[in-house]
Amino acid sequence: MTKRTPESLFDNIAQDNEVLQLFKHHSLRVMYLSTLLAKKIGCYDEDLRIAAFLHDIGKMGIAKEILLKPGKLTTMEKTIVESHSHIGNVIVRKELGKLRPARFIRDHHEDWKGTGYPRGLIGEDISIQGRIIRICDSFDTMTYDMRNYKKQKMSHQQAFDELRRCSWSQFDGNLVEEFISLLQELELPENWYDTFNFPFIEKLFEKVENPADIL
Ligand SMILES: [Fe+2]
Ligand SMILES: [Fe+2]
Repeated sequence: MTKRTPESLFDNIAQDNEVLQLFKHHSLRVMYLSTLLAKKIGCYDEDLRIAAFLHDIGKMGIAKEILLKPGKLTTMEKTIVESHSHIGNVIVRKELGKLRPARFIRDHHEDWKGTGYPRGLIGEDISIQGRIIRICDSFDTMTYDMRNYKKQKMSHQQAFDELRRCSWSQFDGNLVEEFISLLQELELPENWYDTFNFPFIEKLFEKVENPADIL
């Protein structure tokens, strides 16, 4: 059997092309944002990048009707969707043999106050990488909701306000402030995903140290 790579997992697991494209782009944006934030606070390593890229890999096999449902999920559908942090953990451990990224993936829906899932971890018991991905993932979902194209997306400022509102309940409040100042320093444009291409990302990373080892 040929060895899987983080990059090949999507193509192997996604149920169809639409799901693959939607989640791959979301995953890449979360990877770039998480990498930038981790570099800013000095805790970047390759395992963080892999975890951010694959944080939702456990969703790839869930029925499209549930994944892309615009309305409210039923209790059962919610349970199925929430299983993705555990399933992602198993996939990355078993398919890639990578224990650290698997742990960060498991942690990416934990809340600072202990109200998250799957384990209800509290504060610094949640890996810092999991806390970083939590913020970048939420920001991307708020500003670019893949489930409903017509729904009004939040502006970056509205998303910052929302992150601050949920600081110390859902999010690590210190990391939220670091994230907001990072995006303001980088002057990330509102429509950065429209210009989502290699030169643009490269330019973004020029502002941070050593972009070459990420791209
Ligand atoms: Fe997730
Ligand atoms: Fe996500």
